[in-house]
Amino acid sequence: MSENLQKFLKVLEKTESDFSARLAAAQDEPALEALKIEYLGRKGILQSYFSWMSQLDANEKPQLGGALNRIKETIQSRLEERKTAFQRQPAAIESFDPSLPPRLPACGAMHPLLQVLDEIKQIFVGMGFRIEEGPEIESDYYNFEALNIPPYHPSRDMQDTFYLREGLVLRTHTSPVQIRTMENQKPPVRMIAPGRCFRNDTPDATHSPTFHQVEGLCVDRGVSFAELKGVVQAFAQKIFNKDVRVRFRPSFFPFTEPSAEYDFSCIFCKGKGCRVCKNTGWLEISGAGMVDPAVFGFVDYDPTIYSGYAFGMGVERITMLKYQVHDIRIFYENDLRFLQQF
Ligand code: PHE
Repeated sequence: MSENLQKFLKVLEKTESDFSARLAAAQDEPALEALKIEYLGRKGILQSYFSWMSQLDANEKPQLGGALNRIKETIQSRLEERKTAFQRQPAAIESFDPSLPPRLPACGAMHPLLQVLDEIKQIFVGMGFRIEEGPEIESDYYNFEALNIPPYHPSRDMQDTFYLREGLVLRTHTSPVQIRTMENQKPPVRMIAPGRCFRNDTPDATHSPTFHQVEGLCVDRGVSFAELKGVVQAFAQKIFNKDVRVRFRPSFFPFTEPSAEYDFSCIFCKGKGCRVCKNTGWLEISGAGMVDPAVFGFVDYDPTIYSGYAFGMGVERITMLKYQVHDIRIFYENDLRFLQQF
């Protein structure tokens, strides 16, 4: 290869890398147009290189010609490429599709527990119950003593209590609201008390250190256990469906006598027996019973005139059954993938 040809090819290489730098710096279409004229125009850089031909032997001319054509094509296609890239940006805005659904702003919703709690409240309000509330930090007196659970009574072990400073606890159930309500009202009383409770339980699929209960209390002349059963039965059919049956089993609570635990027939297998009801056909719901006369003693109700029934229920338990949630802990984890399903 002649010295001249070598020199020319070197210059071409340099020209191409210069062009690359210039192209990268070009910010808009007019800048591209200017580059095009500078490199490819009739009086442009490449055109001027064709004058080198005369300095080469005939057998080397095609080599320079080929190299010049290649760089010309490269520069042309790279300029085109950049031009379409510039044009594509405004094009994207022009192709905005007004028929697409809008992106909705994220907004909050009722927690599933509160949704079910609302349903429970509505059902009982519909049956003539008023809604009462009590504090989550409760005195030992209301949480235990006035419910006929004296200090050191073994039944305190039924509930693992979070003790605060002397005489105060995080309420372990909503039953203290029974006492507070009866202290403030003369019979007849018909109330439910929804609220948050706390027990020092190790969390697992069915235990959470915090959970919700709805307490029920009815006191009047001649209130019977049959009425309790009727109210619980009506509730079961409203919150689940007409086919649900209710069963009461003898049990013990210090504040009710007689006491019972009540079950609903399994809503999944209709009582035939399945995995959820562990083949018993029944789902345990909570406790209930006739108000113990000793409790009336604490609130100055005359047990020879009045009788009453009380019941509890777990809001988590009912929500888990209603929506087939298998782990109580998920209610408190604030996982949007779970919450957004409600
Ligand atoms: N307070 C009891 C509990 O938490 C439930 C209950 C309420 C039992 C009312 C009887 C009457 O387990």
